[in-house]
Amino acid sequence: MSLFQNLTEALGGFSEGVIHYFINGNVKPPCPLPKGPSIREHCKDLVLTDDQLRELMSKLLAAINKGLNKDTNKDAIVKCFPTYVQDLPNGQEKGKFLALDLGGTNFRVLIIYLEQNHFKMESKVYSIPQDIMTGSGTQLFDHIAKCLADFMRDNDVASERLPLGFTFSFPLTQIGLTKGLLAQWTKGFSCSGVQGEDVVRLLEEALARRGDVQIEVCAILNDTTGCLMSCAWKNRHCRVGIICGTGCNACYVEKSENVTTFPNDSGKPYCIINTEWGAMGDGGALDFILTEYDKQVDSASINQGKQLFEKMISGMYMGEIVRLALQKFTKQGLLFNGQGSEQLFTKGSFLTKYVSEIESEPKGTHTICLSVLAGLGLPHASEQDAINVRYVCECVSRRGAHLVSAGAACLINKMDFDHVTVAVDGSVYRFHPHFMI
Ligand code: BGC
Repeated sequence: MSLFQNLTEALGGFSEGVIHYFINGNVKPPCPLPKGPSIREHCKDLVLTDDQLRELMSKLLAAINKGLNKDTNKDAIVKCFPTYVQDLPNGQEKGKFLALDLGGTNFRVLIIYLEQNHFKMESKVYSIPQDIMTGSGTQLFDHIAKCLADFMRDNDVASERLPLGFTFSFPLTQIGLTKGLLAQWTKGFSCSGVQGEDVVRLLEEALARRGDVQIEVCAILNDTTGCLMSCAWKNRHCRVGIICGTGCNACYVEKSENVTTFPNDSGKPYCIINTEWGAMGDGGALDFILTEYDKQVDSASINQGKQLFEKMISGMYMGEIVRLALQKFTKQGLLFNGQGSEQLFTKGSFLTKYVSEIESEPKGTHTICLSVLAGLGLPHASEQDAINVRYVCECVSRRGAHLVSAGAACLINKMDFDHVTVAVDGSVYRFHPHFMI
């Protein structure tokens, strides 16, 4: 089966456009070209060629193989953590479960009632204040335990001892299904005293400090694994899980015999691997496609030199990449008559949601774009400026989609199944109008 067929099937038709772009060897400009000053020329380094994407695919494959091998894993950048998940659901699972989903600026607590082939679920989103994200681990886990206890009380299950699945969306060295050591924080978290520790134990200790609810952590897993598993519950061909949200990562089903870092005591033939592909490039492998904006985003981040692939794609950085390009073009006199604003020149002011909003607008209308620009202190922006700003947004989001698609293609080729469904989730995938269409 050709890579293209494989991918379009894999992505259930959702991503045909994006995949088609580079499989057929034509990376076309993402939208009708702006007529005005030469923004297009200046955006060239944000448009990846087919050759560059293929080079990325082969570098990623090499990085994954290095991560899977116990002799090379120590120096590997893409760590390929075995997840200890070796079976996929079959749709027959039943029961009442709690779930905790921690991975961005919000976290969710859920209660799920699984019955044969259908489910019911209640959930609540809680925020994680910035001072907790960068405070101590004890504060973080006390906050999570409090929200969990409140949620159980609100759902009348405070007196029950329920099994809990803990989705912890950070790189984790798993020692078993219920034990995982944080390898490193990503996505703006830096809570002290957690790196190298078992996060299940930290959660259990926080709950014990409260003493008002009983839970039993039955699994700790990455969000990519959760994404794959929940899709596999309905679709037996699902073999890859991708998250394009605040962060970006993928997991996939690998033959246990290819994972020499994993003891495989059960002798089962497959194991889900959390690739942590967001770290790709940390050793220089992406230098051939990094732009000045990517380098600036990286040097202004709290984890410099880390998660470079993730920083080129994910929602935490997408708006800032656009802003840096707009800032440069304004200073060069290519936008807004060379007249910027304090907001435009302030880090973080161009939110990723603006990229989605601007690209959601029908081509030829600029109402949303001009209102975003006015909100950024640029009421003097012209229609041509709006066309140009949209073009920059499209270059950045399209590049992110191409990078993820190249990653998906790499995994699909590696697995060698006849038919693969790819599960995709995350805020960028959900809210950006064309990220994977
Ligand atoms: C984390 C991954 C996670 C991804 C998506 C990354 O920053 O390292 O573990 O899967 O974000 O949430």
